[in-house]
Amino acid sequence: MIKTNRLTIRKLGFADCRDYYEIFGNPNISRYDDFDPIREGESRANIERIIDHYNKNASELEFAVEYREEQKVIGVLALLIEDGTVYIGFHFNEAYHGRGLATEAVIAFLPWLHKTYHLPIKAVTDPANQSSIRVLGKLGFHLEEKIVRRAGSSVIRELRFALARPVAAVARARTARRLKRFA
Ligand SMILES: CC(C)(COP(=O)(O)OP(=O)(O)OC[C@H]1O[C@@H](n2cnc3c(N)ncnc32)[C@H](O)[C@@H]1OP(=O)(O)O)[C@@H](O)C(=O)NCCC(=O)NCCS
Repeated sequence: MIKTNRLTIRKLGFADCRDYYEIFGNPNISRYDDFDPIREGESRANIERIIDHYNKNASELEFAVEYREEQKVIGVLALLIEDGTVYIGFHFNEAYHGRGLATEAVIAFLPWLHKTYHLPIKAVTDPANQSSIRVLGKLGFHLEEKIVRRAGSSVIRELRFALARPVAAVARARTARRLKRFA
């Protein structure tokens, strides 16, 4: 479990079905992804799969981001380990966008990822996904590669970002910013 000023990052459980659906049932949230919005009844099966992955220590995991003030899961952080790299993903409840919550969550998630896996950390996003690109920029990711690939008859364009600075430097920058706020 990881705590930040406003958030707790923890495992998902069946009590989170409704909050999970509020995030992934919204078509605006999957707009830049290759999955469809879920239906309300699918939330439980998704969480069952996620719990199974925890138990198997699978290479694909999702974690809840709980907004403590409301005791509500308002975001989900995902990781996928592939080809010696940890890929991260983040999806937040639309009603909570623009309050710095995704940035706050991922900043705290990065040192844990680094300590747990000791692998390069990357993220892939759609070139039109400005908020995701902005969050990655704030976290110190840099554009590594522009990818163009075919999926059936369509052409898919993606941007791959890599963490430019070591995780410790991201944490140092965060502390420096915090100290500046109180100066
Ligand atoms: C990406 C996402 C998680 C960001 O969540 P969030 O809690 O709003 O993120 P933050 O508030 O920490 O930061 C968002 C930043 O994007 C900026 N932003 C939002 N929309 C933007 C746009 N259209 N153009 C440019 N910047 C934009 C915000 O101003 C903010 O930057 P700032 O702090 O410099 O002002 C959220 O938008 C989301 O869930 N999107 C759908 C899922 C998704 O696409 N995930 C990424 C794929 S892995």
